Parts: sequence; structure tokens; C-alpha cells
Amino acid sequence: MRTDAELWDELASTWDVRDDVIAYADRAHASLLEHVGSLLGGQGPRALDFGAGSGLLTERLAPHCAAIVAVDTSPRMLEVLGGKGLAGVQTLCVDLSAGAAPTEAALREPFDLVVASSVLAFVDDYPATLRVLSALLAPGGRLVQWDWELGEGASPTDTGFHPRALREAYRAAGLVVDYVGTAFEMEMNGARYPVVMGVARRP
Ligand SMILES: C[S@@+](CC[C@H](N)C(=O)[O-])C[C@H]1O[C@@H](n2cnc3c(N)ncnc32)[C@H](O)[C@@H]1O
Repeated sequence: MRTDAELWDELASTWDVRDDVIAYADRAHASLLEHVGSLLGGQGPRALDFGAGSGLLTERLAPHCAAIVAVDTSPRMLEVLGGKGLAGVQTLCVDLSAGAAPTEAALREPFDLVVASSVLAFVDDYPATLRVLSALLAPGGRLVQWDWELGEGASPTDTGFHPRALREAYRAAGLVVDYVGTAFEMEMNGARYPVVMGVARRP
């Protein structure tokens, strides 16, 4: 059976030509500017893009950041990202979702901003991953997440989060909730799908 990383590897070469994923990245970027725009001024934050994929959000973020470490478990996705030659962006193929403290040199200095666009609903252990990402933040640093928004009637197998689940998970990871709400909607096959955005801060 293929691993999750192998399944994402297969999507890597065509990821950047999909109108839906481009629109998602544009809207996530716009909502980021709206909610943490003040963090993106000056010399810009040191940022971690968790589940960066082919770098659709990374490339939008790079002009606002002093440096970005783009983390993913799919080597092919990171190859596409690396091929873009973005200034100040370093790629790192590592799985931070098992909950162990990372030892990689690129992750030693704390981050002012961690973004996770359409990835945290896919990790095996969301609370453990949040704890790892939270520990990588500098005091006052922000974690920003986007995922499909689930309603009250969602089944446990649906991919995404109810807004309440984000608030509870942030608090359990020792983070302060700055914002949780619907950031935008995606139209697909005649239906509209809301995307929930969470912004949390390390005290
Ligand atoms: C839906 S794509 C989103 C990619 C990118 N953030 C974007 O907005 O275009 C999900 C990405 O998460 C990555 N991913 C899945 N599990 C991961 C994990 N445990 N750690 C890091 N990346 C992971 C996949 O390899 C894939 O590139």
C-alpha cells in the first residue's frame, strides 16, 4: 500500500495548474494579510510553512518574510517548491506530526509565524502536531491554520474541523486564541464549501 507521502508525490507535478488550489492559496494569503498583516511589515517574520506542498502559499508569503522554512513529507512536492528558486526559502522534508521534538538545524531558531494551509486535517495526530508547532513559536508568535470547515452534522470521517475543535485544540496546546471563523468559501461542482481559519498566539 502506498504511503500518504507517496500519494501526495503523485499530485505534485500537476498541483500548481489547478484553478481550485490556486484560488485557495490566493484567498488564504488575503486572509493572512487581513488578520496578521501587522506581523508582515518591517523586515518581516521568520516563518514556517507547515505542509507547504509545491509552495503556492510560500511564494505569496516570501516577499513579506525575512526567511521561510517550508516543511512537507512529500519529496516531490518539495522538489516543485525548490524549483521555484524563492529567495530566503529553505525546504525541509520531515514529519513533525508524530509529536517528537524536532532536531533539525533549520528548526532550532524560533519562528514568529507558522502557517498551515490545508494540511492539519490530514495529519494522524492533530493535538500532537499542534504541540510541536506551538513549541517552535517564539513568545508572541502566531500559528495560522486553514482547513475545510465542518458543521454540526459532520461525520467523524469528514476531512476538516468544526470551529469549536480549533479553539479547544489551541487551548490544549497552550496557545491563546486570537481568531477562529470562516475565512472564505470555495465553489466546486455547484456547491460552496467554507474554509475555517484559526489564528492563535504563543503567550
Ligand atoms: C492539500 S496539500 C496543501 C499544500 C499547500 N499548503 C497549499 O496550500 O497548496 C497538503 C500538503 O500537506 C502535506 N502533508 C501531509 N501530511 C503532512 C505531514 N505530516 N507533515 C508535513 N506535510 C504533510 C502533503 O504532502 C501536501 O503537500
